[in-house]
Amino acid sequence: MRVLISQQDLEQRVAELAAEIDRDYADSDRLVCVGVLKGSVFFMVDLLKRLTIPVAIDFFQTSSYGAGTTGGEVRIRKDIDQSIRGKDVLLVEDIVDTGWTLRTILDLLRFRGARSVKLCALLDKAAAREVDIPIDYRGFEIEKLFVVGYGLDFGERYRNLPYIGVLDSEVAPPDVPSPS
Ligand code: IMP
Ligand code: MG
Repeated sequence: MRVLISQQDLEQRVAELAAEIDRDYADSDRLVCVGVLKGSVFFMVDLLKRLTIPVAIDFFQTSSYGAGTTGGEVRIRKDIDQSIRGKDVLLVEDIVDTGWTLRTILDLLRFRGARSVKLCALLDKAAAREVDIPIDYRGFEIEKLFVVGYGLDFGERYRNLPYIGVLDSEVAPPDVPSPS
């Protein structure tokens, strides 16, 4: 395992993003942070603990089939529980890879009548992008590598690592239906 982003660097960047979000939503009394299970959980918890503004939380769970996500193959396994009509929604994701997962979710949130929809993503694998996704709050841009830790998994392992790492073997992700 090679450390790509250390625990200290993660903590510092998360604090910076939280400060930005805190400022930008200071006048909103209707912020809903929506996470995508399970990868975004560690990031979302650390981020939200640093906010001082009122915030509701909710979660989607998605899955895709095959080794990579392709258009039209994103499935919603768990929907959010609350109405987001008229709300300011901040979508929180661990990583933007091809962009298909977020394209699907962002479109759905807008269709349901959110007042605003913005995206906060910890990692941006920009070189892997297939659909254009504007990232309003971005933690780090990384190379096109398969990374684990701080929520990100390889076959459900390594989520609890306190840093972002690259597996030595750099083998491809498992070719089975897997939750995000
Ligand atoms: P998408 O290709 O942008 O739709 O990415 C969908 C999901 O794939 C992300 O939310 C992650 O859960 C997962 N994913 C993409 N790249 C990686 C990676 O490098 N490590 C672990 N999971 C990843
Ligand atoms: Mg994810």
